[in-house]
Amino acid sequence: MTADRRLLVDTDTGSDDAMALLLAAGSENAAIEGVTICAGNAPFDQQVENAKYTLELAGVDPPVHEGARTPLLKEHEYADDVHGESGLGELSPETDIDSADEHAVDYLVRVARENAGEFTLVCLAPLTNVALALAREPDLPDLLEEVWIMGGAAFAPGNVTPAAEFNFWADPDAARMVCARLEPTLVDWGVCVRDGTVDTEFFDRVRALDTPLARFFSDALSHVRAYNREMNGADSAAIPDALTVACLLDPDLVVESTAVGVAVDEREGLTRGALVVDESERTFDSRVELIGEADGAGFERALLETLGRGT
Ligand code: RIB
Ligand code: CA
Repeated sequence: MTADRRLLVDTDTGSDDAMALLLAAGSENAAIEGVTICAGNAPFDQQVENAKYTLELAGVDPPVHEGARTPLLKEHEYADDVHGESGLGELSPETDIDSADEHAVDYLVRVARENAGEFTLVCLAPLTNVALALAREPDLPDLLEEVWIMGGAAFAPGNVTPAAEFNFWADPDAARMVCARLEPTLVDWGVCVRDGTVDTEFFDRVRALDTPLARFFSDALSHVRAYNREMNGADSAAIPDALTVACLLDPDLVVESTAVGVAVDEREGLTRGALVVDESERTFDSRVELIGEADGAGFERALLETLGRGT
């Protein structure tokens, strides 16, 4: 039986990506039909293993396709300070699972053409693979049912520079192209900080679950948690990719969203990767549905429900 939501997930498998994959894999009304890997958080081959390990732990085995190992034009930079060298905190998994032969970009274009209007594309990484797929298939916007993106910093400071969030900063040329064409639902860094950040009390509740997925959560997010303690003096962790998937799977978690015009600054310099939002929708041609508020308590409930299962 085909799930309500047929998902293609593009990821740079850091700790929050992994939690997003757990939520999607555990959903009764969605199925991950393919995973594509893009240059981002950690060394590329480790990201590939992180994805395979997470999917195996979640009890699913969609094909994992390897994609772009560098941004379109910029030099690649990792976010290993945040997620740890492996991208998955204390873990550096190695699996014996093979990657699919087909390049991620060829795969995305092919399955979108073969299943026109069927797939929801979930973008949890820099948008290099998606931009390349757009270049290969200009009709991609008409071939996808929906596009959800975690990225950008709207009306809020970024997490890489004051102007920019990592996914948009790492490959601003790709972000500019994708936002201009795919009219995505956008979960930006601002709403993730406000409504997608968990604290000590939540970490304690997860530890008390004492299940394999709960232990995975604690181990994978250990570095992000330590980073925030050191940098912000708070025992907390934003889990942006997981909030994105949680909102996609349960629309009731979206408290407020607005159609806005946007532009992304691809130029090198202080505002590289900046997301500029025009609420009047008059200035820019690119449209996104920007989620302004999410139900943080509902997000935590969704995480606890998934982590509390066996495997
Ligand atoms: O800025 C947060 C985003 O960058 C998340 O997708 C995280 O995994 C990193 O890729
Ligand atoms: Ca990510």
